[in-house]
Amino acid sequence: MTSGSEAAPAVPVRMRPEILALPAYRQGQAAPTGFKLSSNENPYDPLPGVLEAVDRATRQLHRYPNAAAPEITARLAEEWGVEPDEVIVAAGSVALLMQFTMAAAGHGDEVVFSWRSFEVYPWMTVLPGATAVPVPNTADHRHDLDAMAAAITDRTRLVLVCSPNNPTSSVVTKAEFEAFMAKVPTDVLVVLDEAYAEFVTDPEAVNGRALVRRYPNLVVLRTFSKAYGLAGLRIGYGIGRADVLAPARTTIVPLSLTDHAQVAALASLDRGDELRERVANIAVRRDAVYEALLEQGWTGIPKPHGNFVWFPVGERTPEVLEVFRRHGIIARGYLPDGVRLTIGEEESVQNVLTAADEIARILR
Ligand SMILES: Cc1ncc(COP(=O)(O)O)c(C=O)c1O
Repeated sequence: MTSGSEAAPAVPVRMRPEILALPAYRQGQAAPTGFKLSSNENPYDPLPGVLEAVDRATRQLHRYPNAAAPEITARLAEEWGVEPDEVIVAAGSVALLMQFTMAAAGHGDEVVFSWRSFEVYPWMTVLPGATAVPVPNTADHRHDLDAMAAAITDRTRLVLVCSPNNPTSSVVTKAEFEAFMAKVPTDVLVVLDEAYAEFVTDPEAVNGRALVRRYPNLVVLRTFSKAYGLAGLRIGYGIGRADVLAPARTTIVPLSLTDHAQVAALASLDRGDELRERVANIAVRRDAVYEALLEQGWTGIPKPHGNFVWFPVGERTPEVLEVFRRHGIIARGYLPDGVRLTIGEEESVQNVLTAADEIARILR
């Protein structure tokens, strides 16, 4: 997690010390050769029709985008069975996470989340001057929802639930989520971050679709970056009550959602069958990798539900990354906790398993 105690670098103008002390967001490493399995991206090319739609939009590059995003908003409303004002679209779900944080939590307010989870959570909490309240994951790398509910105080303005959890790939179950929501005061915003929902095959897992309109204080976040493979274009959305979404519309960076992203999302939604087939292939590949790891003798790896696997190797993280690297695999390390590896191209699987076998023997 980001440490607030680091000395702020000297700058010639006055800036907020907590921002100076905050490391900038770092993305997964690129892979000059081999496989980039460090950013939970989708290995497939864009769905049919996407490049053509983006190309058409490119001819309007001299115009600002239509910030109201009416077509994609209406389409998502139809898909989710809600009204358009119950949908918010932005330049990635990370933008929405920031918009909701800015809208809900200011100086002295608290934001509760599980840790380790998406590295953006502690970072975005600092920006509006709020306080991060990280609640340690359980020993099996899952959200401890009882402890999270217990961490809510009268200063809590936002609770983040990430399922599947990045980077541990574990899910919250429906039953756990319902029990949790029963404990959260109804005036505290809960954001269910489901960036990887499409990859989930466990019927017991929570699914925001089944929760629409059930809780007035719940916003469900989804993205086109992962299953839909549009990470480079930046588009994500939230579903919730119109009056709960409205303040987050105010905190948007104006005009940041491009027309290209909007038309690409629309074109992708037209290709539901192909999308489901691709997602199913990745889920099957993920389960096969997990089974193979168990056969290699790995213990302690949580059953993966997203398009990635978590290796809880602790302080041995740099060594593990290095073995993967030697086998042409760029994974992502999260010191002092472990390594996250994206399920990528079919051709990467053999290298992943050869490296994992070597690592298992080194760690034994
Ligand atoms: C849990 C989680 N939420 C949100 C995001 C952000 O996705 P987007 O590309 O839509 O900003 C990510 C991306 O890695 C993620 O892992």
